[in-house]
Amino acid sequence: MNKLTHNNSRTADMIRTKSRLIEILDWVAMFVILSVLVFAMWSSAQAIQPEKKSSTAKSVGLDRLSQQLPLGLTRDGIHIPADNPLTPEKVELGRLLFFDVRLSADDSVACANCHSPEKAFADDSRVSTGINGRAGTRNTPAVINRVGNAEQFRDGRAATLEEQAKVPLINPSELGMSSYDAVVEKVKGISGYRDLFERAFGRDVNVDDIARAIASFERTIVSWDSRWDQFITGNVAVLSDSEMRGLIVFQGKGRCIQCHSGWNLADEKYHNIGIGWDSPEPDEGRFAVTKNDKDRGAFRTPTLRDVALTGPYMHDGRFDTLEQVVDYYSNGVIANPYLDVEMRRSNLSLEETLEFYSKENRSERKGLPVQQLDFTPQDTADLVAFMSALAGTGWQDIGAPDSFPQ
Ligand code: HEC
Ligand code: HEC
Repeated sequence: MNKLTHNNSRTADMIRTKSRLIEILDWVAMFVILSVLVFAMWSSAQAIQPEKKSSTAKSVGLDRLSQQLPLGLTRDGIHIPADNPLTPEKVELGRLLFFDVRLSADDSVACANCHSPEKAFADDSRVSTGINGRAGTRNTPAVINRVGNAEQFRDGRAATLEEQAKVPLINPSELGMSSYDAVVEKVKGISGYRDLFERAFGRDVNVDDIARAIASFERTIVSWDSRWDQFITGNVAVLSDSEMRGLIVFQGKGRCIQCHSGWNLADEKYHNIGIGWDSPEPDEGRFAVTKNDKDRGAFRTPTLRDVALTGPYMHDGRFDTLEQVVDYYSNGVIANPYLDVEMRRSNLSLEETLEFYSKENRSERKGLPVQQLDFTPQDTADLVAFMSALAGTGWQDIGAPDSFPQ
């Protein structure tokens, strides 16, 4: 009987949520139309001309960018520097460079080795490996929807995609070239590339244009129109019951939405959620950029779009499955003095809190108590189901070139 009542109130909750959603659909639709209009005006000003693309150009993402934006992403949210407007020529040149192993010291590694189109532009190893099998220190993030943020890298140390694109070229654990000059000389040695740089930029190869082309290509790698997007734009039947329950946990008890918010399910801000603080030397994360103590161990909230495909998870790649991630949030959060306030809303009793602040514990400098969300197995399964509804489309259209410039 109890169970029944409980189920009924759950169902009633779900129905209420659904009808509230239907109420907001009107302004949602208005918002979509406005966003599309604003973007259409903006894109003509930016001289995006997909119709001019050459027959070999596979700039599907560019078409998408100029025609459609996901709900909540507006002109202000799009980051394209004024000195690097998107053009089909740059996008196609960037795609060639992104997939070309000749940009590495020993012709063995391209950007796409770690950011693989089969893995939503991430890879499946804990930490990735560059030339000569050299391992890096962090897990490879999925390069999707990066058009929606200026800062790049998990700690935000690159101010733009252009700035980011240069770094892997000379990182000894990635493409491993000795200098930017060496990269330019190598690319210049391929006459096909010289022609393409001339067409895209009207000048000879240089490292900033290499970065501009790669960044332009990356801006077209998008993931939108997931079942989640369909749901919030009015197709409320598209989520299964389990996914609906997962959404309710995501926004309610789980408080995931505090950080995984907005059109990209990421606030693009930096938080210490405790990952790495069980090791003797935790990765300092955002602190390296700001030198501000409060940023120790903070990393940018990653997007959850296509997250089912992009494991292992977290900056150190410690979790292989989404269930493990959810268990961490539920009862595993690692205490430390810099833990984000959102991870500290404990449900300890007064007695337990006092015990926590006892002298011995204080001297361990563990920080404040951590959250215990105590998810049930059903909550966990539902959250994971909800996250799988975030699988989108766009990036699947982009693959390796059939051939490279000679
Ligand atoms: C050996 C594997 C490897 C190679 C090769 C590689 N990357 Fe990465 N990439 C990574 C890792 C690991 C990170 C995260 C590093 C960090 O945040 O400190 C990253 C981060 C990025 C980011 C930032 C994404 C974000 O969410 O902030 C972009 C963009 C990117 N790489 C593009 C490229 C480009 C362009 C190339 C080729 C010029 C390239 N990568 C080559 C492993 C690789
Ligand atoms: C305080 C902000 C915050 C909250 C709340 C939060 N997250 Fe996160 N989430 C992050 C950050 C930051 C990372 C990356 C941490 C790292 O790499 O060390 C992350 C990583 C993840 C990842 C791994 C993504 C990847 O590509 O590696 C998943 C999945 C995830 N969170 C799901 C959730 C779920 C589910 C909830 C709710 C139960 C939640 N998060 C609550 C900030 C948050």
